[in-house]
Amino acid sequence: MRSTSIALAVLASSSSAYASPIEALNELHSRDTLASSDPYYPSPWMDPQANGWEDAYAKAKAFVAQLTLAEKVNLTTGVGWEGEQCVGNVGSIPRLGVRTLCMQDAPVGVRFGDYVSVFTSGQTAAATWDRGLIYRRGRGIGEEHKGKGINVVLGPVAGPLGRIPEGGRNWEGFSPDPVLTGVGMAQTVTGIQDAGVVACAKHFIGNEQEHFRQVGESQGRGFNITGTLSSNIDDKTMHELYLWPFADAVRAGVGSVMCSYNQINNSHACQNSKILNNLLKDELGFQGFVMSDWQAQHSGASSAVAGLDMTMPGDTEFNTGLSYWGTNLTLAVLNGTVPQYRVDDMAIRIIASLYKTGQNPTDLPPINFDSWTKNTYGYLHAAVNSGYQQVNWHVDVRANHASIIRETAAKGTVLLKNTGSLPLNKPKFVAVIGEDAGPNPAGPNGCDNRGCDQGTLGMAWGSGTADFPYLVTPDSALQAQALKDNTRYESVLSNYQWSATQGLISQANVTAIVFANADSGEGFIDVDGNAGDRKNLTLWKNGDDLIKNVSSICPNTIVVIHSTGPVLVTDWYNNPNITAILWAGIPGQESGNSITDVLYGKTSPGRSPFTWGATRESYGTDIMYNATNGTTPQQDFSEGVFIDYRYFDKANTPLIYEFGYGLTYTTFEYSNIQVQKTNAGAYKPTTGQTIAAPTFGTVDTDLSHYLFPADVSPVWQYIYPFVNSTDPAVASKDPSYGQSPAQFLPPKATDATAQPLLRSAGKSNPGGNRQLYDVLYHVTADIKNTGSVTADEVPQLYVSLGGPDDPKVQLRDFDRIRIDPGKTATFRGTITRRDLSNWDVVQQDWVVSSYPKKVYVGQSSRKLDLVADLN
Ligand SMILES: *[C@@H]1O[C@H](CO)[C@@H](O)[C@H](O)[C@H]1NC(C)=O
Ligand SMILES: *[C@@H]1O[C@H](CO)[C@@H](O)[C@H](O)[C@H]1NC(C)=O
Ligand SMILES: *[C@@H]1O[C@H](CO)[C@@H](O)[C@H](O)[C@H]1NC(C)=O
Ligand SMILES: *[C@@H]1O[C@H](CO)[C@@H](O)[C@H](O)[C@H]1NC(C)=O
Ligand SMILES: *[C@@H]1O[C@H](CO)[C@@H](O)[C@H](O)[C@H]1NC(C)=O
Ligand SMILES: *[C@@H]1O[C@H](CO)[C@@H](O)[C@H](O)[C@H]1NC(C)=O
Ligand SMILES: *[C@@H]1O[C@H](CO)[C@@H](O)[C@H](O)[C@H]1NC(C)=O
Ligand SMILES: *[C@@H]1O[C@H](CO)[C@@H](O)[C@H](O)[C@H]1NC(C)=O
Ligand SMILES: *[C@@H]1O[C@H](CO)[C@@H](O)[C@H](O)[C@H]1NC(C)=O
Ligand SMILES: *[C@@H]1O[C@H](CO)[C@@H](O)[C@H](O)[C@H]1NC(C)=O
Repeated sequence: MRSTSIALAVLASSSSAYASPIEALNELHSRDTLASSDPYYPSPWMDPQANGWEDAYAKAKAFVAQLTLAEKVNLTTGVGWEGEQCVGNVGSIPRLGVRTLCMQDAPVGVRFGDYVSVFTSGQTAAATWDRGLIYRRGRGIGEEHKGKGINVVLGPVAGPLGRIPEGGRNWEGFSPDPVLTGVGMAQTVTGIQDAGVVACAKHFIGNEQEHFRQVGESQGRGFNITGTLSSNIDDKTMHELYLWPFADAVRAGVGSVMCSYNQINNSHACQNSKILNNLLKDELGFQGFVMSDWQAQHSGASSAVAGLDMTMPGDTEFNTGLSYWGTNLTLAVLNGTVPQYRVDDMAIRIIASLYKTGQNPTDLPPINFDSWTKNTYGYLHAAVNSGYQQVNWHVDVRANHASIIRETAAKGTVLLKNTGSLPLNKPKFVAVIGEDAGPNPAGPNGCDNRGCDQGTLGMAWGSGTADFPYLVTPDSALQAQALKDNTRYESVLSNYQWSATQGLISQANVTAIVFANADSGEGFIDVDGNAGDRKNLTLWKNGDDLIKNVSSICPNTIVVIHSTGPVLVTDWYNNPNITAILWAGIPGQESGNSITDVLYGKTSPGRSPFTWGATRESYGTDIMYNATNGTTPQQDFSEGVFIDYRYFDKANTPLIYEFGYGLTYTTFEYSNIQVQKTNAGAYKPTTGQTIAAPTFGTVDTDLSHYLFPADVSPVWQYIYPFVNSTDPAVASKDPSYGQSPAQFLPPKATDATAQPLLRSAGKSNPGGNRQLYDVLYHVTADIKNTGSVTADEVPQLYVSLGGPDDPKVQLRDFDRIRIDPGKTATFRGTITRRDLSNWDVVQQDWVVSSYPKKVYVGQSSRKLDLVADLN
């Protein structure tokens, strides 16, 4: 135990002594104390009146009231890794005909499924800046999961947000901008849940790098750390940056949230009462259930009272056959450590989320696929080769989603440079160069969890993957287009066939299109020394040399980049022989068709969802790659809210392409900004109290009734809610069994009395105080297409809050508008109270400061032609 500890929140609240939060944090770092997380208890219970949840609550209450304790525990506890067909399953309730609930990855399609689609990455979807398209993508993803019998889709992702450009999983999320990510979260959650499955906003929170996210994984790489990485985040930064998009997900009615592997201020995310009880459930009014990331639970009763509702995959570590919950949770309720209301609240949150998304727990369609085999027959309990039966019905769930995927990847491709070579129009001779244009010799799914970089990069690696039903390579689609146009076409699908390449691109009339990529993924796979996180920001496989070599010879070189984030283009981007540069993100199964649509001007491109810095250092943040044995790695988010463009604007470090930037095949002119103030009135802090904690049904306290029933023949290593002995100490298999709650739970952890509502919380309003979302200003601007082709413009609205610690500008609204040549369209944006507020760490509420504020409208974070005062 630490004898002295300072909570970052407390420190930040006295930050008036410092010139800036950054200075305050620097001060902290020079101390020999660790950041700590304030306790916050009791864990909030569901609100029967919560907006959008009333109906689901009533149904769930009636349902949960009939359940026994063991049945409720079954809902909360996974059956163990590979214990059933999905990546996560909880126990069933045979008495009422409720089958096991199925949780499945997720963010680009049904992981491990056959006959499923592979959608674009979240980051590529963000690059479309198209709310409707992001919704349709989410809906398509939801429909495919629904069609396989899945109940909970483990996405979308707002953590990582993208604090560090090298972050391995940034592609799964949307953008380092919290507003763009918040829109991505809300649209995707709504789309998924409209399809009749529960969405899961993950990973909550501060999960910004892969290195040191798990002790075992780190030990395997020679770092004998004692605890998982602690993301040390101050209260203001938490609210203004990392929590923001989760608030949008909660406001959109998300049914579940996944707590992350990392610690936050030295408390594990899945037992951190500050983030789960306080921020998520109390302040944001989250009504759904919190599930752990796989093996991210590290305690039993402590995680229960800190706000965790479901443990995944249920065992303490993969395939131990033991659980912090299951038997232990049954015992903990019976011996009075965990109050009944807490288990009742876990159960009602899980069941209400099903009802909210139109799923009747007693009438769930069967799970018709299997994560652990593509065969028709297999073991139902794959971990222990038990229960051989039909496990896969090979249901084709793809419907018409290919067209959504093609459109998303094309509209999310960013045109970074074009000196006139694009769009292509029946070119005489096209030469496509580079391995990234062609197939993986092992096939599109040839590498386990896509853990390699061979052929075109259609998907990055890790658990956020799905198996391609096909992958249209750039080479095949561009060749098909060439054949249609009677264009001569040749490709060299290697980065290392220089003499053949040279022979081709030095010929007259050639348009050379060079493809190169940079990959990353989840920390359990290391590809070429990239342990999840990228080890550098350059292109892979000598992509830079290939581009330099081709462009040194060919005066019409077009570069296409597939990547999981920015790469350094500094050395070659301004070579005049490079006539165009495109970032095609992580496009999914229609890759080649999408890039062809943009190169040939059939689809209008998107805008960059992150900044392209000139150097690695120019971002001001980096991965923590190294740790000292015997310590818990400490990662201080000392830059505060200054990540990506906020940092470049503040530190004035060099960049090549700014956040929000992207060309089209036409030009636009902005004029006539108009600002109209509404009369929203003054902000009213929320007052009042919750109800007292309800309980549903009664608990049978006779331990002998929890012995394994005669009609259950236990599967080896499977997690059950039952006990093996009427001696609880024996049943718990825990040498320290018998500790009373007072010995290890914090004060108030079991308090069931009515609790005061937070001033920043919404009264029955998921998302926070409802007045935060009041529109304070309407802003309009005219945009004229001054070129000669129809194209989509993405007008962006930024504000400056005016204070010395505020970013120069911050994105607050945007739209994507199709405008014909010569025509003028009106952009309509709004500014809410939240958009103009700062988090006040003393008042613990959002406050609009008295600094003069401005609104800007323009084409990117650095091209803001229109400005007006907000009076
Ligand atoms: C809990 O789930 C398991 C596995 O599905 C099942 O065998 C058991 O009967 C369930 N327990 C109760 C009390 O329903
Ligand atoms: C850290 O511990 C590992 C064993 O887990 C060992 O292989 C490694 O050499 C140690 N590193 C240092 C710097 O002592
Ligand atoms: C109960 O939890 C403890 C850790 O708190 C663990 O050691 C023990 O194995 C668990 N018991 C069962 C039956 O899973
Ligand atoms: C109650 O059960 C839990 C879970 O097995 C255990 O950790 C705790 O020590 C027990 N407490 C008492 C007082 O029996
Ligand atoms: C092809 O190249 C030749 C030689 O440089 C040039 O004269 C001709 O105009 C080019 N034709 C086209 C269609 O680019
Ligand atoms: C960056 O990493 C990639 C992938 O591991 C590698 O191919 C490339 O050579 C590295 N770049 C540099 C400059 O070392
Ligand atoms: C551009 O290409 C021409 C050949 O067409 C070559 O002579 C020249 O050096 C190249 N320029 C650069 C900056 O690479
Ligand atoms: C990592 O840290 C260890 C222990 O402090 C040190 O010996 C080693 O040189 C560091 N490695 C790198 C690559 O910085
Ligand atoms: C890792 O460190 C612990 C002490 O923190 C030590 O007991 C253990 O032996 C170390 N493991 C290895 C593989 O060095
Ligand atoms: C409880 O007993 C059953 C049946 O003997 C056995 O399969 C199971 O592994 C035991 N579970 C625990 C947690 O001890």
